[in-house]
Amino acid sequence: MFESCKASKRALFVILYVLFQISSIYNHDSFFFLIFFFSDLSRNYLSGTIPREWGSLPLVNISLAGNRLTGSIPIELGNISTLQSLDITSNYFTGLPLELGNLTSIDKMFLASNNFTGKLPETFARLTTLTDLVIQASGLTGPIPSNISLLKELTNLRITDLDGPEAPFPPLDNMTKLKALMLRNCNLTGELPTYLAKLTELDKLLV
Ligand SMILES: *[C@@H]1O[C@H](CO)[C@@H](O)[C@H](O)[C@H]1NC(C)=O
Ligand SMILES: *[C@@H]1O[C@H](CO)[C@@H](O)[C@H](O)[C@H]1NC(C)=O
Ligand SMILES: *[C@@H]1O[C@H](CO)[C@@H](O)[C@H](O)[C@H]1NC(C)=O
Ligand SMILES: *[C@@H]1O[C@H](CO)[C@@H](O)[C@H](O)[C@H]1NC(C)=O
Ligand SMILES: *[C@@H]1O[C@H](CO)[C@@H](O)[C@H](O)[C@H]1NC(C)=O
Ligand SMILES: *[C@@H]1O[C@H](CO)[C@@H](O)[C@H](O)[C@H]1NC(C)=O
Ligand SMILES: *[C@@H]1O[C@H](CO)[C@@H](O)[C@H](O)[C@H]1NC(C)=O
Repeated sequence: MFESCKASKRALFVILYVLFQISSIYNHDSFFFLIFFFSDLSRNYLSGTIPREWGSLPLVNISLAGNRLTGSIPIELGNISTLQSLDITSNYFTGLPLELGNLTSIDKMFLASNNFTGKLPETFARLTTLTDLVIQASGLTGPIPSNISLLKELTNLRITDLDGPEAPFPPLDNMTKLKALMLRNCNLTGELPTYLAKLTELDKLLV
């Protein structure tokens, strides 16, 4: 029921999008209107880049997973103070701006399976409202910034396939709410920390 509703919403979006494109009512305002009501655009065949104008919309969720989007995430997205969830899994994005560290309401960030270059941004340590951070096979390089330890609300932390210099296991002692922790193929060295035994909520551990 829910799925079919979602599917018809998606079909409606595609129809409206095409109508807007071919008719004279297509302009920035109508496009913004569309995005505002249909910000779940996941699993389509959308290509191109994210328009920087989205940075001025009061979006709560952005879901673009499973498309063919390219380019950099616009720095303006870091200004969306209402944004709670950003899902851009499985696209071809290449740039991840430091400005995303300014997202003050963000709960969930899903960045897996992209073509990002550069280091995992240290500014992410400012996202203290995050509960879910998933950066699997993103193309980013390490090391994992040690002050990721500041993200004490995290319940789900998955970072995998991070090339870059060897680094010790990040200090996660204070992430007492962690339920799932995956740090596979991140060039971590040294011993497995003993504090993991104190993370009593943890039921999925893959390192
Ligand atoms: C926004 O995303 C959150 C977290 O993924 C989800 O719980 C919520 O239902 C979403 N809200 C809307 C309006 O889609
Ligand atoms: C973000 O918002 C601030 C304050 O309103 C503004 O000064 C800044 O130019 C904005 N940044 C971008 C990239 O739009
Ligand atoms: C956002 O973050 C960038 C880089 O992390 C910073 O230089 C900038 O001042 C921040 N902008 C706002 C509006 O907070
Ligand atoms: C993205 O990365 C994958 C795997 O590294 C590569 O095969 C693909 O050609 C890249 N795609 C683009 C559009 O850059
Ligand atoms: C994280 O650590 C880096 C380098 O050690 C530092 O530049 C940055 O300001 C720190 N960020 C926070 C939020 O503490
Ligand atoms: C792991 O770290 C070592 C030493 O810093 C480096 O030589 C090697 O290339 C790294 N591996 C990857 C996959 O980045
Ligand atoms: C964990 O919290 C304690 C108490 O607030 C603090 O002293 C310690 O430095 C924190 N550890 C890490 C790795 O952030």
